Amino acid sequence: MDGGIDDALALILALRSPELEVAGITAVSGNVPVEQATVNGLRIVELLDRSDVWVARGLGNPLFRDPIRATAFHGSDGLGDSNLPLPKLSPSRKPALNAILETLASSKRKSTTIICTGPLTNIAALLTEFPDAEGMVEEIVIMGGAYFVTEYGFGNETPVAEFNVYSDPEAAKIVFEAGVPIKAVGLDATMNPRVQLTKSDYSWLRNRKGWVSAFASSILKNNIKTYGRFALHDPMAVAVKIRPSFFQFANYHAQVETKGEYTLGMTVADRRDWLPDDKLAGRPVMVCTSADPKFKQFFLRRLTAA
Ligand code: BDR
Ligand code: CA
Repeated sequence: MDGGIDDALALILALRSPELEVAGITAVSGNVPVEQATVNGLRIVELLDRSDVWVARGLGNPLFRDPIRATAFHGSDGLGDSNLPLPKLSPSRKPALNAILETLASSKRKSTTIICTGPLTNIAALLTEFPDAEGMVEEIVIMGGAYFVTEYGFGNETPVAEFNVYSDPEAAKIVFEAGVPIKAVGLDATMNPRVQLTKSDYSWLRNRKGWVSAFASSILKNNIKTYGRFALHDPMAVAVKIRPSFFQFANYHAQVETKGEYTLGMTVADRRDWLPDDKLAGRPVMVCTSADPKFKQFFLRRLTAA
């Protein structure tokens, strides 16, 4: 996670879902610097009284580039400038890559999913430094990319590139080219207005009782005021593992552009269907093509459940 508003909402959803056993959280440079992303991860774990879940600080820079931030959107604290107190909990003393590796090694073979809601720097470094890790992961669910397979599937950081992939395209390329099965939840699905939070969803949320609703509405407040809606990018990547029936996927061969003058960070999905498999460009990726509007209701209920 890279410490943004939707990362926080995704973590709350994961930690409030008995279907998932959350082992740990790694922060990465992205929306905000990695130190801030780590603090924001700890805030959620503390808010939900889940100190059993470790939070480790990951890499502070993209593999080969300078970081880009999204503080204009997520606030200087990553949480909508909501002025929250600092958490009392501390991050794990283990380096993030070792913490992930230990978790993978201690769980049943290939039973662990990695859900990525930020740039793919940590996971690319893991796969590069510890090649055995690849065989221990069941699948990687990525919030990232824009695949041009629905009317919403174009870039948000550039005309063609989505923020997480654009932030560290070389890392994304390593992950997309590794052997682990990938499910990609990109803007094609998350930008559909039918699954975004509206002003009336926000009012509903704000009127619920409890700490979690108060926290969620305080971090959403500025964004709803400015834009009138909020896309649930990162929560959707988590929900794929909780309610798979809400989501449709299609298989495309896809690659990540790392050199283009105008297309850096683009996820290029090969939509041609008349070529033999070995001529299709890139490895197969399951790309999310739609989310049932029931997802939004499900998300709101999970957030506000007593
Ligand atoms: C992604 O970029 C970040 O700003 C959000 O947290 C999300 O992970 C959407 O493009
Ligand atoms: Ca994110």
